[in-house]
Amino acid sequence: MNTKVSIAGVEFQNPIMEASGTFGSGMEYSEFVDLNKLGAVVTKGVANVPWQGNPTPRIAEVSSGMLNAIGLQNPGVEVFCERDLKFLESFKDTRVLVNVCGHSAEEYIEVVDRLVSEPRVDMLEINISCPNVKEGGIAFGQDPKAVEDITRLVKKHAKQPIVMKLSPNVTDIKVMAKAAEAGGADAISLINTLTGMKIDVERQNFVLSNKTGGMSGPAVHPIAVRMVYECANTVSIPIIGMGGISTWEDAVEMMLAGATAVSIGTANFYNPTATTDILQGVIEYMERKNIDDINSIVGIVK
Ligand SMILES: Cc1cc2nc3c(=O)[nH]c(=O)nc-3n(C[C@H](O)[C@H](O)[C@H](O)COP(=O)(O)O)c2cc1C
Repeated sequence: MNTKVSIAGVEFQNPIMEASGTFGSGMEYSEFVDLNKLGAVVTKGVANVPWQGNPTPRIAEVSSGMLNAIGLQNPGVEVFCERDLKFLESFKDTRVLVNVCGHSAEEYIEVVDRLVSEPRVDMLEINISCPNVKEGGIAFGQDPKAVEDITRLVKKHAKQPIVMKLSPNVTDIKVMAKAAEAGGADAISLINTLTGMKIDVERQNFVLSNKTGGMSGPAVHPIAVRMVYECANTVSIPIIGMGGISTWEDAVEMMLAGATAVSIGTANFYNPTATTDILQGVIEYMERKNIDDINSIVGIVK
């Protein structure tokens, strides 16, 4: 049975990854999950210098999901390379995708340039879709010209293949997918979180200090499936699908819609072994359905 998938020449032993920002850099989950079993570890967004993120409270539970406004807190690329990448060095079977953030094109490029010389980095995921930082992030992801320009610039500097992470907070995500493809992206990933808000009726105030936060978790899954389907039928580069995946059925559904690989995010918070549980479920599904190659189900529902 073949569970291997390939994206831009990088081979993954299976299509199951975790979603950036929900798994630390892998270290935090390594006592629950054998990282060597995952297709890839996708690290939390990293910037050129340390970012403090937004003031607390920055997480809230909502029906069938959560809101977060972390604001991309991270230790900066130097600490990331010395501490987090070094830790990942020993996990030879899993690929490493590094998620990159910035307030400006220059800041993205500084991180990309620093990662060029790191052999443990298999791919770069460029976050142009974070709704929780005031400048950069989503500002790049909501204008097709900006998506194309930043993709082209990153591509020029990167040694590793690049995945552009798209925002669902747009009128037509197909336009953004096409812009990323036109800029030379090797793949796209979607969806990032959907902007939401929660108000505490007793305090009569916002629950999050940032007022708004990004919504994720099971409630967003049907939206993510629809968007992956739309993009898969618009561009010819591979897609890493995510958004509310919490069961193996959700993962298979995303692949049938057109994702070559899938990421599991919020589910890790309430089930630390969600990734390997889902992988096991996908393998059992393949056995039961006599599927000898996982690639044969990608995008077959038209
Ligand atoms: C607490 C939290 C932090 C996140 N941090 C990042 C990040 O640093 N970079 C990024 O591209 N996406 C980030 N995301 C978005 C997730 O990677 C994912 O796209 C989104 O949560 C949808 O998947 P899910 O519903 O399975 O969580 C974050 C999400 C959460 C919940």
